[in-house]
Amino acid sequence: MPQLLSLSRAARLVGTTRATLQTQIRNSALTTFEGKIAVTDLLRLYPHAKLENDEMLERVENIKAKTSPKNREKPCLPSPEILAERLTSLSYELADAKQHLRHYHQCGEQLLEKIKHFSNQDHISKESLQDLLCWVQQEMQQSLDKSDAKTRLLAKDTFLRMIAAHVKIIPSGREFFIEGNASLLESALKSGIHANFGCSSGNCGSCKARVVSGEVHKLQNYEYDLTESEKNLGYILMCSYTAITDLVLEMSEATCVEDLPRHTISTKVEKTEVLNDEFVILHLRTPRTKILRFMAGQFVTLQLNDLKGNFYIASCPCDGHNLQFHIHRNQTELVKQIFEGLPAKHLVNIDGPKGHFTMREATNPVLFLAWEQGFAPIKSMLEHAISIDTIESFNLEWFSATPNGHYLEKLCRSWSDALDNFNYHLTQTSEIDLKYHLKNRLKSMSYNAKDFYVYIVAPPFFIETVKPLLSEHGFTLENILSAEI
Ligand code: FES
Repeated sequence: MPQLLSLSRAARLVGTTRATLQTQIRNSALTTFEGKIAVTDLLRLYPHAKLENDEMLERVENIKAKTSPKNREKPCLPSPEILAERLTSLSYELADAKQHLRHYHQCGEQLLEKIKHFSNQDHISKESLQDLLCWVQQEMQQSLDKSDAKTRLLAKDTFLRMIAAHVKIIPSGREFFIEGNASLLESALKSGIHANFGCSSGNCGSCKARVVSGEVHKLQNYEYDLTESEKNLGYILMCSYTAITDLVLEMSEATCVEDLPRHTISTKVEKTEVLNDEFVILHLRTPRTKILRFMAGQFVTLQLNDLKGNFYIASCPCDGHNLQFHIHRNQTELVKQIFEGLPAKHLVNIDGPKGHFTMREATNPVLFLAWEQGFAPIKSMLEHAISIDTIESFNLEWFSATPNGHYLEKLCRSWSDALDNFNYHLTQTSEIDLKYHLKNRLKSMSYNAKDFYVYIVAPPFFIETVKPLLSEHGFTLENILSAEI
């Protein structure tokens, strides 16, 4: 039986993304056994996998960290460099010992068979004993000569197990890693999983989950009373526990917008970030105990005093505490007041989440089409896609009537630099020239259009122009979702 690794674990080991491995599986470059990859297959494709080779992973983690709840305190330990050195060396020894043990165990079983065979014979010749001796010597030598590559990869796996525990969720089969002192809930949310939760502080019981296998560690005392039978069955509160070892966790997740509770939350203004004459980003913060649960692509109603307006959430669902909204200057009183600048800590009520424009669960490549502030929900979707790390590739086509409309170009550039599977293109166009530019952009896309999921957030004139063009270029109409701004 080959040694098998989960997709997430394998991606970490060779310093790539799960999406890349999924593409390789689809292209038959890698085979899977019950959804897992054999160590030998992985080494064939990534013969030079090294611990230091995690550049891609690191870049993705950096982006995730920026979109996630504030960094957690690190435990009080020797410096990370020293700890890493020690762990690397211990991991290598452990992996080496495991390899030898496994080999000796196999030899022991074969030796038993040979001895059984001898015991059925009346007479054992000197030659037979010589052969047996030779075989034992060869096997022992083989164990010492075993390729170093497998040991190195297994050592890296051991190292990563110490740094980050792996959690597999049932029944959905989703996976995530736990790093640092993060709770199970924080890590699940950061990985784009729509876990059920309420207070995040051990009071409501909404984040209850059952540990099917593995060990957990309590991070904080909590008020919520788990019954004796729940405790005996292995139930814990995800917000109050972390993982010691790899876990299998039975938990419920929101799978559609109807599974999410609708809230009215009093948030406070964190800051108003002026990007240019036409656009500002409004940063709002919810109270610690009232975090907004939403799906990327949804919107809320903002209420400032008695003024109300609907705005798409531009931040990642992995952080329902810090919310972002992209505001385009217009003549409404609410927007005028936001542009005049709201003082920090000013109260803004939010009511939501609302809307059904959300991402489908699929690994298919994605094309995002945005017009000006239509980028807001697309940004949330992109950040979610980065968190879940299962989408093959994402492409953004951002259109605007003025240069100001591409108000977060720098962010797009940083994603493009950091991610191998993200491309973007900015187009400035008038409404009259839109068709011409769209045709040019679609012509330049050489991919297999029918596999793509397309998400459009734009004014009606844009959506009406682009949909027939997409269809002409081979995109499947059922795979196109749109929302108006
Ligand atoms: S979220 Fe309320 S107890 Fe965990």
